[in-house]
Amino acid sequence: MSADPLLVCENLSFSYLDKFPALDDVSLEVRSGERLALLGANGCGKSTLLKVLDGLVFPGTGRYFAFGQEITEDALEDEQMNEAFRGRVGFVFQNSDAQVFSPNVAEEIAFGPLQLGLSREETTQRVTDVLAMLGISGLADRTPFQLSGGQKKKVAIASVLAMNPEVLLFDEPTAALDPRTQMWLIELMAQLAEAGKTIVHATHDLDALDRIADRCLVFGEDHRIAGVGTPSQILASRDLLLEVNLVHEHTPLPSPRARSLPHGHLEGL
Ligand SMILES: Nc1ncnc2c1ncn2[C@@H]1O[C@H](COP(=O)(O)OP(=O)(O)O)[C@@H](O)[C@H]1O
Ligand SMILES: [Mg+2]
Repeated sequence: MSADPLLVCENLSFSYLDKFPALDDVSLEVRSGERLALLGANGCGKSTLLKVLDGLVFPGTGRYFAFGQEITEDALEDEQMNEAFRGRVGFVFQNSDAQVFSPNVAEEIAFGPLQLGLSREETTQRVTDVLAMLGISGLADRTPFQLSGGQKKKVAIASVLAMNPEVLLFDEPTAALDPRTQMWLIELMAQLAEAGKTIVHATHDLDALDRIADRCLVFGEDHRIAGVGTPSQILASRDLLLEVNLVHEHTPLPSPRARSLPHGHLEGL
């Protein structure tokens, strides 16, 4: 991992319409090659933070820097800056229907690379490569809307990977997928990390945490960061998980390993 963090958030606060709080004084750093999980109960602010990281919403207070430059609404009005940023950060939405809109899958995947200014030839090559990589070459001519949820998710991921971003943001990637597709996606995320991608993903699923994250940031229901730690540290911290509503009193601990680890060594508590 390089010394300088790729993404830096300093004391971010954000409220929708100035009255529905979503983030409160959130600071974090994401280093190159890191796999960071954003954990927290529904409504705690995970998706909002991903939107900030993708430059889709802008913090009310606090600052966000990506690749050494501050990301503001004004900064992204600059076409060159916008294009460079969009090419380096890719976002896989929770709801694939909000992401796929082209009449066929090949065009859907070609959209991003063409926007980035790649030639038709290069774009066609990328589409072919990404379809093969995700094992969905057979879907190239299909209409995205007619696909199953799992297939749509793969197309949405393909359309992001076709742009070859350094940073990948995934919002609840395994939600609503069947177990086999979930396993496939967890494996894909591991492969992407091995290939050097930086991955930030939001989830409230503690099951596969140690396979897809190096570090976790836990949000409280007050939209503030309640804890930071490795997956084993977080899974071992039952009080924290109870407090932020990620487990309830009768939930068995998510991993057998968690029981053997001591409490009280989380940073940022
Ligand atoms: N478009 C919106 N308008 C108003 N409030 C919103 C909107 N989107 C999210 N919120 C509120 O912001 C808070 C954080 O939401 P969100 O970031 O979606 O949380 P999470 O992804 O952790 O479930 C929630 O209280 C939610 O109700
Ligand atoms: Mg969400």
